Amino acid sequence: MAIWLPEEFVERVRSESDIVSVVSTYVQLKRRGNRYWGCCPFHQEDTPSFSVKPDDGFFYCFGCHAGGNIFKFISLIENVSYYDAIVLQAERLNIPLPEREKSPQELAREKKVSELREVHEMAVNFFHNCLVMTNYGVAGLEYFHRRGIDDETIKEFKLGFAPDAWDKLSSAFAKRNISNSLLLESGLAVKRQQGNGEYDRFRNRVMIPIMDERGRVCGFGGRIIGEGQPKYLNSPETVLFNKRRLLFGLDKAHRYISQAGFSVVVEGYMDVISVVAAGIRNVVASLGTAFTVEQCKKLLRYAPAIYFCYDSDNAGQEAIARAVTIAAETNAEVKVVQLPDGKDPDEFIQKHGAEEFKKVIAKAVPVVEFQLKHIISHSDINGLEGRLRTLTEMLPVLGGIKNTAERSAYVSKVAQLLSVSENDILAELTKKGHAVVNMQKTAKDVRKAVRKVENATNRSGRVIIRMIWEEPAVIDHFVSMVPIESLPNELHRQILNELADKYTKGETVKDIINLPQLGEEAMAELSRALVEDLGEEDNSILYEACVRQLRRHYLAGQYEVHSMAADNLYRQGDEKYHDELALSQKIKHEMDELQGVNE
Ligand code: UTP
Ligand code: MN
Repeated sequence: MAIWLPEEFVERVRSESDIVSVVSTYVQLKRRGNRYWGCCPFHQEDTPSFSVKPDDGFFYCFGCHAGGNIFKFISLIENVSYYDAIVLQAERLNIPLPEREKSPQELAREKKVSELREVHEMAVNFFHNCLVMTNYGVAGLEYFHRRGIDDETIKEFKLGFAPDAWDKLSSAFAKRNISNSLLLESGLAVKRQQGNGEYDRFRNRVMIPIMDERGRVCGFGGRIIGEGQPKYLNSPETVLFNKRRLLFGLDKAHRYISQAGFSVVVEGYMDVISVVAAGIRNVVASLGTAFTVEQCKKLLRYAPAIYFCYDSDNAGQEAIARAVTIAAETNAEVKVVQLPDGKDPDEFIQKHGAEEFKKVIAKAVPVVEFQLKHIISHSDINGLEGRLRTLTEMLPVLGGIKNTAERSAYVSKVAQLLSVSENDILAELTKKGHAVVNMQKTAKDVRKAVRKVENATNRSGRVIIRMIWEEPAVIDHFVSMVPIESLPNELHRQILNELADKYTKGETVKDIINLPQLGEEAMAELSRALVEDLGEEDNSILYEACVRQLRRHYLAGQYEVHSMAADNLYRQGDEKYHDELALSQKIKHEMDELQGVNE
């Protein structure tokens, strides 16, 4: 959890920064009037539609609509959170960071995370050195070379080798004072079933480090050399390694994704490595599990389109069918790349070369086409009955096409394919299909409306509850910004008071789930807070936004109190009204500032 940055500090960094010179280090700018123009670094373009307005301290791209202040720019271009962008800029300007006392729990957690990062960093180097510098690695090096992976790619991906022995890593790390418990926690070692001690998890495997989008190692995939089970052994889930969120290769791909305007998603580690080595760099892989909404949203931060390029076997096609359904939950523009023979991207490139692969990518088909083909692939369209069944399966796909011209084009394609008349399909569509479209639309609209109407303050309250539940130490900071009694929702006050009570007594806050005095309603609200989707936002950004929201509400109350007091004193002819007035103005000022921070 990031620490809170005081407004004065943020303001100081902002005022000492010159947005034009910061942007100029990444983009060539030309002055026109009171604006500067250049080619947008966040999407591909040849004529400048990216502008910077130094007077207001903002940038905006008329092409891709990216925009914001200097910190937003840094966070986008450096791929860091808003908070980290402020810190980064402060460091560049040599402005010292504000210090805040951290609670013991916070410190303990930070220590754990940084220990895990360190041990992973050591492991990457250990495996990499084994591969490229020692005799242990000969078999691994041979394996990679046989698969057409050259030394440059090995270096770029920091590929490695885990020696064919029980404790090479464990004993090397023990010598470097890494504790057994940390080794076990990192998943690099496993406890022996019998007796004491532990042994290396990864043995006699080529090692593929998995980085997060900022290039920090989170875990490993280890491939067996030759045949055997499991083919890939992966790190277990840890604080660092979350398979649902990570995308292999994103650290190297994100800039290229922004530039190309689309990401290519493949199935395997080796696919990413081959595709990148072939010079196509906007590629990532999900980690052996189904593609998730979290991963989808993460990719959409860089470009609106996603191309799926999975194995051309049945399993691969089924996996695409699932992935596109997941992607349909977002507003991603989805295309599907179809490899012409029974291969994965890696094998395709090894066989046909990079240029052929680029051509195949350029021929990616819109998702509708894929879905129709996919339905055909498992349907029997010889008999009339089979054709009708196929048509029934296709109707929702056709009904889902929003653009009318596009829809009629596909209707006529399907009509030809199934030898039925276009009019019959259209009739079916109006009977059923339109209902499908409208129902989907209505449900979406309703959801949207509900979301809007739902009081944003209430959601913020729940987010705060959730974060304190997961990280009790947060409460100290929270109550210093927002007194619990000022929260508008009574249930939230109840829950937070109980959490605070447990926390001050040094007890486990999660025990409040067993408290009889927490009524049914509060319990329901607590559960809701714990299961609600927090969205893709970085936790620290989300936290800050929620605190701002609730603090604004608190300040509004305070403003009311003090401006009324000032009013009364004035009418009574009491000179002290000046103080109250000043206080209320100060509060008003902070409220305006908080309003301004909300992007
Ligand atoms: P594949 O079986 O398609 O492997 O699994 P691949 O990528 O073609 O591997 P090579 O070319 O034979 O080396 C796709 C992905 O599924 C995950 C890995 O992420 C792999 O890259 N996987 C597969 C595992 O995690 N464990 C396994 O045992 C197999
Ligand atoms: Mn493969």
